[in-house]
Amino acid sequence: MSTVLAIETSCDETAVAIVSDRQILSNVVSSQIQIHQVYGGVVPEVASRHHVETVNWAVQQALQQAELDWSQIEGVAATCAPGLVGALLVGLTAAKTLAMLHQKPFLGVHHLEGHIYASYLSEPDLHPPFLCLLVSGGHTSLIHVKDCGIYETLGQTRDDAAGEAFDKVARLLNLGYPGGPVIDRLAQTGNPTAFPLPEGKVSLPTGGYHPYDSSFSGLKTAMLRLTQTFPPDDLPIADLAASFQAAVAKALTKRAIACALDQGLTTIAIGGGVAANSGLRQHLQIAAAEKGLRVLFPPLKFCTDNAAMIACAAADHLNRGHRSPLTLGVQSRMSLAEVMQLYLDRPKVLNQPIASGNLS
Ligand code: KG4
Ligand code: ZN
Repeated sequence: MSTVLAIETSCDETAVAIVSDRQILSNVVSSQIQIHQVYGGVVPEVASRHHVETVNWAVQQALQQAELDWSQIEGVAATCAPGLVGALLVGLTAAKTLAMLHQKPFLGVHHLEGHIYASYLSEPDLHPPFLCLLVSGGHTSLIHVKDCGIYETLGQTRDDAAGEAFDKVARLLNLGYPGGPVIDRLAQTGNPTAFPLPEGKVSLPTGGYHPYDSSFSGLKTAMLRLTQTFPPDDLPIADLAASFQAAVAKALTKRAIACALDQGLTTIAIGGGVAANSGLRQHLQIAAAEKGLRVLFPPLKFCTDNAAMIACAAADHLNRGHRSPLTLGVQSRMSLAEVMQLYLDRPKVLNQPIASGNLS
């Protein structure tokens, strides 16, 4: 059993949490959404500066909320990839410094592995194998979760991520940022069958379509064309939002169900901010029930970016004797297949203090 303090600063949330295996002891999230809203999206430099200003406060809050001191923390972790490089660097540097100062093992965590672990926080009895549908602002992936650190990405988006498509369509409709929650709210009062929209199939060079990959650029263009057919000050916003949401929900549901059935996986766990979407939840739950599949939607606070999911992943790695070198850097892009490259497998030195001359 490992108690880990983790820092997540990959985008616009400064988050610190303390988790003991799958049990959350504290979970602090300071969102920058209001700061970035005026720009219509996340400004990387502004995000980094805000992380610098907030991270120490968030660490103190996390320790206070958990009523722990450093002697009770067994590892310090931070998201190291993928994400905004400057933003990641703030959390990673803070975690490395704290690990050195308090003589604790240090672990870098892949952000998407964190999103996968969010399901374990709400379902402590969940065990691999299962399928994870990860739908966030930066990613749309179908991942076969085989074990801690062992993942196979079976499907992904060829262009925009699902959340990105929500944000871009919301901008098109002048609804502000982030677009997902606003479209979701407006869709409640609209007609999801008002406008026919493309499903976003991905052609294969050999003919036919990729069964699990998706594409949202065609859908985005179709939305642009559709809006141009109405006077700008008289858009049927609710019907447009409902039709768009239904198209995304149907496309994701179809691929997730096909993938789970083909791979013989009976559980689908959802992660990422778009998991909050009511249309997706509804479509997927109905389709999964028809096929006898179990579908898990973690509570919203675990779906959007948070550090509890990062700490949970780090605790599992720490339990297996994994730790990262203090020379570890950040990466804007990194595939889930490379997760194990973040760790050194050196159980013999796991609980020994880090010597100042031996940083690797
Ligand atoms: O996972 P997340 O918090 O951050 C990363 O991208 O890693 O996801 C943020 C994305 C944004 O694109 C936002 O518009 C979308 O999740 N989102 C939603 C909803 N709530 C948040 N999309 C659709 N419906 C929602 N209710
Ligand atoms: Zn995320």
